[in-house]
Amino acid sequence: MRIITRLERFHHSDIRRLLSGIIVTVGFVVLLVQCFGIPCPKTFCLSPVTVSVIESTNSNVTQVSVMNYINLSDIDNVDEEFEEGNKKKDLDGENDVVISKEKVEINVSVIARANISLRKPIDSSESDPNLVMVRVKDSRNGNVLSMRKNERGAAISISQMNSLLIQSLSSFKSPKPRWSSARDSEMLSARFEIEKASVVHEFLGLNASVYRNISKFLRSYDLMERKLKVYVYKEGGKPIFHKPLPRGIYASEGWFMKLMESNKKFVVRDPRKAHLFYIPINHLKEYVDLIAGKYKFWNRTGGADHFIVACHDWGNKLTKKTMKNSVRALCNSNVAQGFRIGTDTALPVTYIRSAESPLEYLGGKTPSKRKILAFFAGSMHGYLRPILVKLWENKEPDMKIVGPMPRDPESKTQYREYMKSSKYCICARGYEVHTPRVVEAIINECVPVIIADNYVPPFFEILNWEEFAVFVEEKEIANLRNILLSISEERYIVMQARVKAVQQHFLWHKKPVKFDLFHMILHSIWHSRVYKVKTR
Ligand SMILES: *[C@@H]1O[C@H](CO)[C@@H](O)[C@H](O)[C@H]1NC(C)=O
Ligand SMILES: *[C@@H]1O[C@H](CO)[C@@H](O)[C@H](O)[C@H]1NC(C)=O
Ligand SMILES: *[C@@H]1O[C@H](CO)[C@@H](O)[C@H](O)[C@H]1NC(C)=O
Ligand SMILES: *[C@@H]1O[C@H](CO)[C@@H](O)[C@H](O)[C@H]1NC(C)=O
Ligand SMILES: *[C@@H]1O[C@H](CO)[C@@H](O)[C@H](O)[C@H]1NC(C)=O
Ligand SMILES: *[C@@H]1O[C@H](CO)[C@@H](O)[C@H](O)[C@H]1NC(C)=O
Ligand SMILES: *[C@@H]1O[C@H](CO)[C@@H](O)[C@H](O)[C@H]1NC(C)=O
Repeated sequence: MRIITRLERFHHSDIRRLLSGIIVTVGFVVLLVQCFGIPCPKTFCLSPVTVSVIESTNSNVTQVSVMNYINLSDIDNVDEEFEEGNKKKDLDGENDVVISKEKVEINVSVIARANISLRKPIDSSESDPNLVMVRVKDSRNGNVLSMRKNERGAAISISQMNSLLIQSLSSFKSPKPRWSSARDSEMLSARFEIEKASVVHEFLGLNASVYRNISKFLRSYDLMERKLKVYVYKEGGKPIFHKPLPRGIYASEGWFMKLMESNKKFVVRDPRKAHLFYIPINHLKEYVDLIAGKYKFWNRTGGADHFIVACHDWGNKLTKKTMKNSVRALCNSNVAQGFRIGTDTALPVTYIRSAESPLEYLGGKTPSKRKILAFFAGSMHGYLRPILVKLWENKEPDMKIVGPMPRDPESKTQYREYMKSSKYCICARGYEVHTPRVVEAIINECVPVIIADNYVPPFFEILNWEEFAVFVEEKEIANLRNILLSISEERYIVMQARVKAVQQHFLWHKKPVKFDLFHMILHSIWHSRVYKVKTR
């Protein structure tokens, strides 16, 4: 049984191991779980835990590496919602492994593998109240599959997200600053200028159809380029600064950090000149305390002009309280987990294979040469993918939906070829809502099909995602084929052209260029602050 974790991709060499052996029962499966290693000092750690899972029925051993774990004995340092008494209730899908003093529990449903999680659907009556059961009916044979979700309530649709955005942009939410600053009025006047932007239909090859309002976007972008100044805090460890540009799945935060650090245009040395303050590490509360104690700038606005750029799964949870006024650029942009549309900005996950040539493999076949209707390949992370594969693997000749592909160079080339010659690329959520497939699809000029309820796509405040991507609700996964077939060829060709039109916004360059990913991330942060700024 092959299990590829995000950790292998992250290339984290510092694998600490922990020791304790235990029997766990989760739902219907009994597992013997053994862990080896040194305890991790922080509740949330970068280091993965390696766990051996022994299946009780046949004693087969599987090694699993997991990073999303929580140490219950160390709980006092975490958000108050984890406090005593509430412990179990709030252990949502963000933690694959729960460590308490004696015991290590693996959540089998989270480390979902097709063989385990789908053998026997769990009845909702015996699970906790936070658990939502979603039943998926296979339209071909009437089979019902059950899907366990850990979020209460219905999924928020894209049109509801649009309303949330409009609502958020029209209401001031930042606290009143403790004292005034000329920067606030500069931001405020930028907002007025954006609002009365003169109407533009096309500019430098940008295609108006992919933007919510290209006139406002161009005005805002131009003002950012001319006005924005950012102060970068130097405190604390410098985990990435002096290293080469990173590769791997969490590369977005590293690339942004590196490019921001070396930027001459936006960065100022004098914090009094800054409109925005960048906290260049994504952990932690202590760091914010350090800054708040040492500088007056955090205190002026309660952090409202401060921002972070974080791609790790825990970025959201860990900063929800401490940075409640700040702008958070997060990969894990899940509205059901506290991502705030209009205030936070969704950061694309970019899986950089070669730091030297991030633009490698750009492009794909023209629509008429795309013979595969839909493509997906990937590990069985989370509850959704096992269902996707179970429903669609080897079911239709024009759908290539498979589990993990081998990781040798030939298979990687093959993976890209599938993306380049498929009409639609399925971006199904893994453990969390975000996946590098969205950007991969755009790079390979394949129309992304996002199956991740509550996921806010990158640059949502600027881009008209429905013009170049398809959103399929998780509960509609059994209708995937019909949904895709119902899109006309003409509409498809238009969408595919628009994928190419947005491509430039999703590309890293070692030296940033206009409208590229670096600038778009910074622009979204600027845009959020511009619409939230409050003067004294
Ligand atoms: C499920 O089990 C079968 C037989 O043991 C094995 O061949 C297959 O690879 C397993 N599937 C997964 C996704 O682990
Ligand atoms: C969990 O936290 C406690 C208290 O800080 C610590 O003693 C223990 O070693 C930690 N366990 C693991 C497995 O990290
Ligand atoms: C698991 O154990 C069974 C029974 O001992 C054996 O037949 C099977 O090949 C094993 N599967 C794997 C994936 O190792
Ligand atoms: C395991 O996951 C299920 C559903 O995803 C959840 O109800 C349960 O609380 C989780 N268990 C632990 C120990 O986190
Ligand atoms: C875009 O915004 C500008 C400035 O507010 C406005 O005049 C224009 O009508 C808007 N265009 C669209 C298509 O909404
Ligand atoms: C913009 O997209 C439309 C289709 O959506 C296309 O007809 C038009 O040619 C495109 N314009 C540019 C400048 O690419
Ligand atoms: C900022 O505010 C916090 C709490 O209100 C306070 O503890 C800290 O001393 C303040 N820092 C400065 C530099 O004023």
